[in-house]
Amino acid sequence: MLPHKTIEDRLKTAVKAVLPDADTSSVLVRPCPDPKFGDYQSNALMSLAKARKMNPRQVAADVVAKLDVSDICEPVEIAGAGFLNFRLKPGTVAEALKSAACGAHLFFEKASRPRTVVLDFSSPNVAKPMHVGHIRSTILGDSLAAVLRLLGHKVVTDNHIGDWGTQFGKLIVGWKRHLDRAALKADPMAEMERLYKLSNAASDTDPAVLEYARQELVKLQQGDEENLRIWREMIALSQVQFDTVYGRLDIKFDHTFGESFYNERLQPIVDELRQKGIARESEGAIIVPFEDNPQLKKNPAIVQKSDGAFNYATTDLATIAYRLETWHPNEIIYVTDGRQQLHFQQLFAAFRRWHPEAKVKLAHVWFGSILGEDGKPFKTRSGEVVKLANLLDEAEERVFNVVSEKSPELPGDQRREIARVIGLGAIKYADLLPNRQSDYVFSWDKMLALHGNTAPYLQYAYARIRSIFRKGSLESSDQSLITNHQSPITLAAPQELTLAKHLLNFGLILEAVADEYRPNFLCNYLYDLAGHFTAFYQN
Ligand code: ARG
Repeated sequence: MLPHKTIEDRLKTAVKAVLPDADTSSVLVRPCPDPKFGDYQSNALMSLAKARKMNPRQVAADVVAKLDVSDICEPVEIAGAGFLNFRLKPGTVAEALKSAACGAHLFFEKASRPRTVVLDFSSPNVAKPMHVGHIRSTILGDSLAAVLRLLGHKVVTDNHIGDWGTQFGKLIVGWKRHLDRAALKADPMAEMERLYKLSNAASDTDPAVLEYARQELVKLQQGDEENLRIWREMIALSQVQFDTVYGRLDIKFDHTFGESFYNERLQPIVDELRQKGIARESEGAIIVPFEDNPQLKKNPAIVQKSDGAFNYATTDLATIAYRLETWHPNEIIYVTDGRQQLHFQQLFAAFRRWHPEAKVKLAHVWFGSILGEDGKPFKTRSGEVVKLANLLDEAEERVFNVVSEKSPELPGDQRREIARVIGLGAIKYADLLPNRQSDYVFSWDKMLALHGNTAPYLQYAYARIRSIFRKGSLESSDQSLITNHQSPITLAAPQELTLAKHLLNFGLILEAVADEYRPNFLCNYLYDLAGHFTAFYQN
């Protein structure tokens, strides 16, 4: 068991001895914000005392009297209004490193109660190139999936692609009138985008085109053979492009059930909602009102439009139902940009009224925008949205130029591979590092810098550590490291202790990432880790 867990367990027992009625689930031990005061801290006693109108320092003294951690910690200190500060004995830290080196753990513990989590992320729209807005959902979602899996949770990833909706009316009109097969073959996404733009512009000026698009949409929805065939071709072509991007970013999904997958379920849901009095008619449309919800009072969810078409929210209700039936998750997480906050508030509220008995936790993990260096939404020089594929190309190209300049002697394919690893790593890391809810400025210079909290810096530190292993002939396999590790570990120099203690907190960071859906905690942890390692190495 990791030392902080041992401290926490014993602290809970001591609290129970002093306050038998206390709920000890809030008795937590966390890293001290300032190492001056110790390695770990607990502030739980203060609120327990407050709730009982007791003197917190007295409660702290009573608990400490019952608490025996002398085998692993220096004497426990009571600070301020009743904080407990713990400092690990160097021997305790060494013991934990030794057990890690012997393969007993990697500084984290699997969740004692594994959860099933459905993660809905990336979810681009068919017939539109993936753009820079999808990058955040894709990268944040994939990181959350990795962390949750590492902690032992069962994660089901589902790419909820936008493969249904009103845009297909215009797309089909464009396809029937203007399709250039050769252009489609050369660059399918660009051609589909062109077709959409053409008929969108035409419907703006000519009501007859708009009406034509509406009819084509109705035909598609009613199962017209030709329209279905065109629609299927658009999906297949788009999927090829999505898969290319996912392949480059090394991202996989367990499922890709697009919006269209839920078609058959939409009418029965609306009927059921009406029958239960949850939905009602309003100006020809069917809405779910939220009169008793102060935030949503003015924003009922529309589940069926006056022309009979269903909405994004209707599909999402059907999607929740399907996921519950299929995977029985404890939690469903949606990763999208912040502009969809209202949609998810409505969705969750409507779902709770529809299924008040459901225990599933629903979380909207939203993020801010990517801005250009001018502080405005990130665009290309000619003012268009930045396509994800082009962005990845540019990252690799920029790094390739730097590598070629610095190491012209390396063979070309090796330079390409380095450029790929560093370029894509830099893009991913730049996206994970900021607080996800703030907008961030996309800056090549910043993300590719060799110093500071960047991917190249971390990759450099990592490469250097590997090279030490190589020189020590320790790189052959992890197994040789484990079995050869017979000698004792002595932690004497402060840099050694600092590095070792930082390693001990890896699991706490992973848990915080999973609880708050914030991969940036892990970025900062790794940045500090690289710094502590460098100080250790230099000294
Ligand atoms: N396709 C949507 C978009 O590009 C995102 C879908 C998010 N997931 C969901 N279940 N609504 O904005």
